[in-house]
Amino acid sequence: MKIIAVLGSPSKNGNTCVLAREVLKGAKDSGAEVEEILLADYEIEYCKGCIGKNINDMCMSTGNCIIHDDINLLKQKLYDSDGIILASPAYGLMETARMKNFLVDRIGMYTAYTSRLADKYFVGVSTCGGIGANKVAKNLAKHFIAGFHKRGYMTGFIGVKLGYERIESKPTILEKAYKMGKKLTNDIKYKKKYPFQKIVDRVIIALIVKKKILNNIYENKDDIMKAVYEDLVKRGLIKKYQ
Ligand SMILES: Cc1cc2nc3c(=O)[nH]c(=O)nc-3n(C[C@H](O)[C@H](O)[C@H](O)COP(=O)(O)O)c2cc1C
Repeated sequence: MKIIAVLGSPSKNGNTCVLAREVLKGAKDSGAEVEEILLADYEIEYCKGCIGKNINDMCMSTGNCIIHDDINLLKQKLYDSDGIILASPAYGLMETARMKNFLVDRIGMYTAYTSRLADKYFVGVSTCGGIGANKVAKNLAKHFIAGFHKRGYMTGFIGVKLGYERIESKPTILEKAYKMGKKLTNDIKYKKKYPFQKIVDRVIIALIVKKKILNNIYENKDDIMKAVYEDLVKRGLIKKYQ
């Protein structure tokens, strides 16, 4: 069992990273193989928005991002994991720009269209001075719950308001984070289902959105959507076009 923590804070030993490491520690003590990815340590450029331009440049047609930085390596690490801890401090009531760029813009389109992070379990972690951490932690944890073809699962989230204090002065919260790591490994082990998570979004996708997405994939299966189509057929998530 592999669990990865993606750390979106610029501060390697800041409050958010320390808190996320506690979740990771709980997972490790429950037998998981763990790894942390501090985004600030990697070369991750901004998305160039290839979609609608040159077909050979698009992640949806090739399966990879055209930019030669660390994104394809990191994306693969997430694909190969069973559980993912997403951690970011609240910046203006949102995740950091670094985390948004990674999660949404750079691994976003191909990953979303192929539901490549489905079946994985997520934990959201955030800290803030006064307001925003709960919202950020929850949004991170539920980001991949309602996929186009298949869903992910939210084990839980921890958002902490710290004022100017350090997270180390909050042993109860660190204990909660440690237990969350244990819960994450248990969820993965016993394949916990959480049937009501994002139920409204999932019903809307199943009844309305999915048909449109499928039409788009089939219509463009030989060019724009080539890699998406081939991946979904290979994984048995859609039928081969007749
Ligand atoms: C650019 C910036 C924006 C911030 N925005 C918020 C905010 O919206 N709400 C809040 O309560 N704290 C905000 N803070 C404070 C941080 O969320 C808080 O100090 C957090 O614990 C820092 O985490 P770190 O130690 O992992 O970097 C902001 C800090 C910075 C640098």
